[in-house]
Amino acid sequence: MADENILIVDDDDNMLEVLRLRIAAEGYKVVTSINANDAISVAKNNMLDLALVDLRIAEENGIELMKNISRISPEIPVIILTAYGTIETAVEAMKQGAYGYLVKPFDHRELILQIKNGLEKSSLSREVRRLKALIGERYGFKNIIGKSKKMQEVMEQVSRAAETDSNVCIYGESGTGKELVAKSLHLLSSRKNNSFVAINCAAIPEGILEGELFGYERGAFTGAIKNKKGFFAQANGGTIFLDEISEMSELMQAKLLRVLQEKHFYPLGAEKLMKSDARILTATNKDLKNEVKKGSFRKDLFYRIHVIPIYLPSLRERKEDIPLLADHFIKKFSKEMNKNIKGISTDSLQKLLSYSWPGNVRELENAIEYAVAMTAKDVISDELLLQTNKTIEDDRIKPMKKAKNDFEKNYIYKLMSLTEGNVSTAARLAERYRSDIYDLLKKHSLQPSDFKRNNLTV
Ligand SMILES: Nc1ncnc2c1ncn2[C@@H]1O[C@H](COP(=O)(O)OP(=O)(O)OP(=O)(O)O)[C@@H](O)[C@H]1O
Ligand SMILES: [Mg+2]
Repeated sequence: MADENILIVDDDDNMLEVLRLRIAAEGYKVVTSINANDAISVAKNNMLDLALVDLRIAEENGIELMKNISRISPEIPVIILTAYGTIETAVEAMKQGAYGYLVKPFDHRELILQIKNGLEKSSLSREVRRLKALIGERYGFKNIIGKSKKMQEVMEQVSRAAETDSNVCIYGESGTGKELVAKSLHLLSSRKNNSFVAINCAAIPEGILEGELFGYERGAFTGAIKNKKGFFAQANGGTIFLDEISEMSELMQAKLLRVLQEKHFYPLGAEKLMKSDARILTATNKDLKNEVKKGSFRKDLFYRIHVIPIYLPSLRERKEDIPLLADHFIKKFSKEMNKNIKGISTDSLQKLLSYSWPGNVRELENAIEYAVAMTAKDVISDELLLQTNKTIEDDRIKPMKKAKNDFEKNYIYKLMSLTEGNVSTAARLAERYRSDIYDLLKKHSLQPSDFKRNNLTV
């Protein structure tokens, strides 16, 4: 049984004592209060997990007290205790946000069951709060942004995985936050005071990767002029993050597998075996199972690293997070660039929401950085976002007539630029008559001479 903190507020001394004994007998920590003022100060000074509040504590209003407690600790469930005959008030309390109620005299089992259920229900939000607080505290930014259900689930998986020592494989398209999640996992784990070492397997050539991972002794190969500590040794007691694991060569896959199986390795040229106690996190934007099927990734290695898979959703699957992320990045870049940007116009936000974000959060971050850098106003407007993301416009549905017109204008513009205003060449490329080209130019108020290069004619 856990040692969650439970607050009981009742103005009846005897009742308070009975409840305290019963609940403490279940293994919970209990704090009691005899009036509202005292209860509020307890709530302010303790990390509570649940509160039991008598609805009619002497002169005071139990519903008011419940609301005050919720203001201080928003995630904790409050269970109302009420006397027989005051059900309406209990129902009112539920409407105002109480988690449940118990009518006196109540059954011991019912009391404990409600407490258990209440604690279970709130554990997800408490986990997320704990995770956010920890990341905020130890890592340079406040949190992993994401209110969507998909991201909340990811955060819960991250906090659960952090409590274990199992290997985690993080899947997600480019820019979805794989590295961010890997760092968070490390910081939330018991290994947080040791190193987090990240290696991009795709960026290091095969011949060098082995030495980088396992280290080498002086003279192990030409160029090894002194001993080098490898990433595995650096990450001892900590975490090693192998990014883009699918890009690892067959030979390196075999070597890595051996380390995972045997928990030790030899640095190149060394005779002494080194113990490896690094937790392995991996990430990929490919479907590893599919790579195994295709024969480009070892099945046995796959099973070793894919113990806890975490799948990061693409940004287009969680568009409800876009406003939050945009706001987060506006604040971040305004601060960095010493600007005072208040926010984003409705049109701009609309544009961000209708775009498909193939580059996910990173692309959004870049788009906002550009807009914050370029804006002369204190609100980001849509022209600035269009400059970095021309496709945003293409992605929005326009009336067909306007879409056709825009296409035609763009087409003739490109054609004439390419041919530098030569109508005959343009007609040949477009497989139309010259008169068609003249018609199009006229329709869009353009002249062939607009496209002639000055340096050629002068
Ligand atoms: N949920 C999020 N909240 C805040 N910032 C985020 C979030 N997800 C990603 N980012 C930011 O977006 C950028 C890209 O994230 P990250 O490098 O972790 O992605 P990745 O999946 O590893 O990308 P790639 O596959 O391209 O390596 C980083 O600057 C990161 O801080
Ligand atoms: Mg990455």
